[in-house]
Amino acid sequence: MKTLTVDLGERSYPIFIGQDLLNDLSLVAPYVKGKQVMIVTNETIAPLYLEKAKKMFSGLQVDEVILPDGEEFKNLEHLNLIFDALLSKRHNRTTTLVALGGGVIGDMTGFAAASYQRGVDFIQIPTTLLSQVDSSVGGKTGVNHALGKNMIGAFHQPNCVVIDVNSLNTLPANELAAGVAEVIKYGLICDLPFFDWLEVNMSKLNAKDTEALIYAIETSCANKAKVVAQDEKEGGIRAILNLGHTFGHAIETDQGYGNWLHGEAVATGMLMAADLSARLDWIDQTDVDRIEKILLDAHLPVKCPEGMTAERFKSLMAVDKKVLDGKLRLVLLRAMGEAVTTSDFALEQLDATLKHLTN
Ligand code: NAD
Ligand code: GLY
Repeated sequence: MKTLTVDLGERSYPIFIGQDLLNDLSLVAPYVKGKQVMIVTNETIAPLYLEKAKKMFSGLQVDEVILPDGEEFKNLEHLNLIFDALLSKRHNRTTTLVALGGGVIGDMTGFAAASYQRGVDFIQIPTTLLSQVDSSVGGKTGVNHALGKNMIGAFHQPNCVVIDVNSLNTLPANELAAGVAEVIKYGLICDLPFFDWLEVNMSKLNAKDTEALIYAIETSCANKAKVVAQDEKEGGIRAILNLGHTFGHAIETDQGYGNWLHGEAVATGMLMAADLSARLDWIDQTDVDRIEKILLDAHLPVKCPEGMTAERFKSLMAVDKKVLDGKLRLVLLRAMGEAVTTSDFALEQLDATLKHLTN
C-alpha cells in the first residue's frame, strides 16, 4: 500500500492507495472518532461493495443510505435523503459519513458532512478512476443547481481517502476513460514527464493493468495534493486543476446532466483550451495534435456535441464560477506541462477556437 499526505496543517489527511483495501479491517478505525457511521452509496455500487465497506467499520453503529445512481440526482432534493437518514437514525455530532462511490456520491456526502449539525467528519472511499484521482482529494463538495453545475457547495476535507484499485475491476470502460481524462490533465497542467509516460502506457491503462493504474493514481493524487496544499480554497493556483472545465461544464449543461460524462466533457474542453493556447502562440499545433492523439488513444471524445454552437458555448460559459468581474478567465497552457489562469486573450481568438471546434 502507498500512502500520500495532503498537507493542510491540522486538516492534513492520508490517501491510501493499493489493492484489496476494502478487505483491510483495521485501516479506517483511527479515522473514526465517534461510534456512529453513515455510509452513503448508490443503487449500482451497493450490491458490489456495501457489505465489504460495512465490515470495515464493524463494532460501530453502521447505517446506510442508498441513493439513485446518476448526475441528475446530484441536487438538494436528494441531498436531503442523507439528512433524513442521519436524523431518523439519530446520528450526533461525532458521526462519520462515508462516501462509497464515484464523484457524485463523494461530492454529495462531503457536502452533507459539511453541513450536518454545522459540520461532521467524513471518509472518502472512491470507486471510479475519476473520483480516485480527482474528486475524493481536496475537499470540494457540493451539488448541482438547475442553472449551473456544482453551484451549491462547501470546502470540507475528509479524514482520509481509501483507494482500492481492485474496485475498478467492475467499472465500465467509458467510466474508466472519463477518469483517464483527469489523469491526462495532471500531465498537461504540471507534470510533462507524466504526460510522456501516459503517451507510452495508455494501452496498459485501457486494459486496467494494475501496476500502471496504481502508478497513474499515485502520480495524479500527488500532483493534486501538491496544488491543494498551496491553495486549499482556490484563491489562485488551484484553478489550474480546472483545465478544460469551463468548456466542459458548458457541454454538460447543454447536454443535460449525465448525458456526457464529466470526464468526457473535460477531455473535449481540454482540447479546446489547447487550441486557444496555440492561437496565443503559447504551444504549437504539434502539441495540440499530441493532445488530440492521447485523448483518442484513451477513447475520449474530441469533438463538441452535434449542434452545440459557438454562441451557445459563450452564453453557458458566462455563468461559470471562473468568471470574475464580468471578464471570462480560462485555464490555458502557457507551455506543455504548465497551466495558467488568464483572461489575456482576445474575444476573437476565443471565437476562432469555438468556431473551429463546434459544428
Ligand atoms: P459517478 O459518481 O456518476 O460514477 C460513474 C458511474 O459509475 C455511476 O453510474 C456509478 O454508479 C458507477 N460506479 C462507480 N463506481 C463503480 C464501480 N467500482 N463499478 C461499477 N460501477 C461503478 O461519476 P464520476 O465520474 O465518478 O464523478 C463525476 C462527478 O464528480 C461529477 O459530479 C463532478 O462534478 C464531480 N467532480 C468533483 C470534483 C471535486 O473536486 N469535488 C472533481 C472532479 C469531478
Ligand atoms: N477538480 C478541481 C479541484 O479540485 O479543484
